[in-house]
Amino acid sequence: MLPPGPGGPESLSFIRLMQRNPLQMFQRLQQQYGEISRIQLGPQLICLVTEPALIHRILVHDNSRFKKGRFLELAKELLGDGLLTSEGELHKRQRLLIQPMFHKQMIRAYAEVMAVWGERFAHRWQDGQELDLAREMMKLTLAVVGETLFGANVEDEAPDVGRAMEAVLDITIAHRPLAQLLRRLPTPSRQRFQTAKRLLDNTIQTIIDSHREHAVSDTSSNVLRRQDLISLLLAARDEAGEGMSDKLIRDEALTLFLAGHETTANALAWTWYLLAQSPRVEQLFHQELDTVLQGQAPTAEDLPALKYTRQILTEAMRLYPPAWAMGRRALEDYQLGPYQIPQGTVIIISQYLVHRNPRFYTESERFIPERWTADFKQQLPKYAYFPFSGGPRNCIGEAFAWMEGILLLASLGQRWRFKLLEPAENVGLQAMVTLRPRNGLQMRLEAR
Ligand code: HEM
Repeated sequence: MLPPGPGGPESLSFIRLMQRNPLQMFQRLQQQYGEISRIQLGPQLICLVTEPALIHRILVHDNSRFKKGRFLELAKELLGDGLLTSEGELHKRQRLLIQPMFHKQMIRAYAEVMAVWGERFAHRWQDGQELDLAREMMKLTLAVVGETLFGANVEDEAPDVGRAMEAVLDITIAHRPLAQLLRRLPTPSRQRFQTAKRLLDNTIQTIIDSHREHAVSDTSSNVLRRQDLISLLLAARDEAGEGMSDKLIRDEALTLFLAGHETTANALAWTWYLLAQSPRVEQLFHQELDTVLQGQAPTAEDLPALKYTRQILTEAMRLYPPAWAMGRRALEDYQLGPYQIPQGTVIIISQYLVHRNPRFYTESERFIPERWTADFKQQLPKYAYFPFSGGPRNCIGEAFAWMEGILLLASLGQRWRFKLLEPAENVGLQAMVTLRPRNGLQMRLEAR
């Protein structure tokens, strides 16, 4: 038996909503049919799962019975066989190879770069200036990823990377029935995609070439000192002594470039948005920064003391999880709780919906950082909070993102307060691959 869901003419209104606003469609599906539901979209059967125990089962125990959903399959055109989009043995090998970049000690070494970039942005702004803070956060996190992982200054590339992402989304968004066809035709969006892809490829290639040149001209000790991602990928050898192909190095680099900045930028943008609406929380936040930092730039040593800042980021990613949903395609028939679903079904797991379920969170729509006490976390069911997913395909950059998020909030919040230039309810959601403010986040900067 399949899970419950709309049929006949009712499903048409769901399909129409899906094209306009997938997040709202899934929200409605859950409201009407519960925590396991289904919808037929053309030939594709989709099941929505928002029940934590079942999510745990799918992502962890039964992980090998699924592959990534359709969107990520389509994203392969841009990201190739990078970590996010590859499967099976290749993924396993690459993950082992890249994991060392994200070990605790390595990440600690990135703290300084993160804080320096935070300070740089904090110093270049002017009192009373109005800007799109979402875009500014994108530039900031791109600069951090560029320098920490690639040893390059890529700040000026931010608009190109942003445009490339948009162009990719434009044609690959899974819900467009004609996506497959559009990809083959020379439509304007197709051309935009190609131009953007070339730009991204060139940026990455320049970084790779410059590392190669250094590797050739420098002494080996110098190469070892540059333990950034590209150096690691260039130096990696398998058992047969073979290096990675240029294509694979490019795929991994581009994947980390994109996965490593867009999500964190959105997490920060939504945090400033929430803080701007909650003077009480904002005041406590500022108090913590002033007490802990005493006017100095934040460092890795300050992280344990920045408790309230961490709670703020945790709560912001509860309400606005940058990865708002993930897809998994069943490789075989699967027992989904009390239901049976056929091979090929796509399961949508939505952080956004689970994180706002009043079953787990009282006053679930309100921004209450204080709820994140040790006791609260202890009693929360596993997978009732999972902004970074879980299991073997969890986010490789989770620790990196926490550290970056807290350090950037601290260095910017120490000097600035952000005021919304429009009523908060006018800031719409754009739920594509990540959850972003639909038209950016227009804010005025006030020096503290
Ligand atoms: C707030 C920030 C972030 C959030 C919310 C986030 C969330 C996620 C989620 C939910 C996934 C799983 C996607 C899926 O299974 O479909 C994922 C995977 C991934 N993330 Fe993140 N991420 C963040 C930051 C980062 C950073 C900073 C990096 C790298 C520097 C990164 C690199 C990756 C990579 C490479 C994967 C694929 C891992 C694999 O499949 O082995 N992410 N992320």
